[in-house]
Amino acid sequence: MKAIGYIDSLPISEERALFAFDTPEPTPGPRDLKVAVKAIAVNPVDTKVRMRRTGTAAEPVILGWDAAGIVETVGAEVTLFKPGDKVFYAGAINRPGTNAPFHLVDERIVGHMPASLGFAEAAALPLTAITAWEALFDRLRLTRDSTGTLLIIGAAGGVGSLAVQFARQLTGLTVVGTASRPESREWLEKLGAHAVIDHTRPLSEELAKAGFDGADHVFSLTGTDTHWPEIVKALKPQGQVALIDDPDLIDVRLLKQKSASLHWEFMFARPLFGTPDMIAQHALLDEVARLVDAGQVKTTLGANYGPITAENLKRAHAALESGRAIGKIVLEGW
Ligand SMILES: NC(=O)c1ccc[n+]([C@@H]2O[C@H](COP(=O)([O-])OP(=O)(O)OC[C@H]3O[C@@H](n4cnc5c(N)ncnc54)[C@H](OP(=O)(O)O)[C@@H]3O)[C@@H](O)[C@H]2O)c1
Repeated sequence: MKAIGYIDSLPISEERALFAFDTPEPTPGPRDLKVAVKAIAVNPVDTKVRMRRTGTAAEPVILGWDAAGIVETVGAEVTLFKPGDKVFYAGAINRPGTNAPFHLVDERIVGHMPASLGFAEAAALPLTAITAWEALFDRLRLTRDSTGTLLIIGAAGGVGSLAVQFARQLTGLTVVGTASRPESREWLEKLGAHAVIDHTRPLSEELAKAGFDGADHVFSLTGTDTHWPEIVKALKPQGQVALIDDPDLIDVRLLKQKSASLHWEFMFARPLFGTPDMIAQHALLDEVARLVDAGQVKTTLGANYGPITAENLKRAHAALESGRAIGKIVLEGW
């Protein structure tokens, strides 16, 4: 099969930053599905791994985690899926990625694709859905009965676009998202944010201007280190913060006076460590598919960059590296 990968970590403008190469089709392990990949989405993690992991001429690195496709064959111990099933999933950070026509994934982290979506619309969802869901419901432990204010920083990107919708549909929280441009602000308003504030200004002042006396919960997606003092300032006493990006040092001591708590979310943790509850990601994705088919959650597809080629993938990496993505960038077909 012709996959897309790289050997050396290169700026995305370089010819060999990503290229097509021939590699044998993979053979599934006992709990693996072999999936015919129909569409993929690109995430910031693709660009980060590209710059820190290197391959060899014999084995270039294949990136890509989000995929939607059709199960081709299954391993001997697979019970949840059968050949022909349409699936969507985000894969595992320690296995080859989805930028290939055929891909292996453990069935316990795969969901049935929403029946109402095409492959591109479905591929936009899994990685960011798992991240937003685990952060809101497994880490911050928010529920349908949760009230108060949730501040989501960097909310118009991939993760935020789902976090806003989940919080609106599945909790009683008032959702405030941050965006810095008219188009990202408008996107957030369409997704249902109760209020939108500007993350290029001090967050605590922006919140006050919008009529809020602070945030009970903060979900920080981008620029956590630069926003950190303002996050702590905006947080109400006994509040909680969840974060997902890669901040340089943040001073957690600032949380002490407010008796506030800090939660990390890493959506690859379950598959990376093979935790006993990793099948929770299968259940989670099936639930997201149900919410989509019920019309409660919309796809977050922001742009379709066309067929899965090295050229189109390079354009997608470049767009994500600009930090200006709205929703998700997907590629579809080979
Ligand atoms: N730990 C995990 O499991 C996990 C999972 C997924 C993602 N992540 C990480 O989380 C981060 C966000 O992921 P994503 O997929 O949502 O990214 P994304 O789609 O690339 O986010 C783009 C958004 O970020 C906003 N933004 C840019 N600079 C900002 C700043 N200084 N402060 C606040 N917002 C800013 C932009 O809004 P404006 O254009 O309006 O400025 C844009 O809409 C990335 O670092 C990613 O690697 C971690």
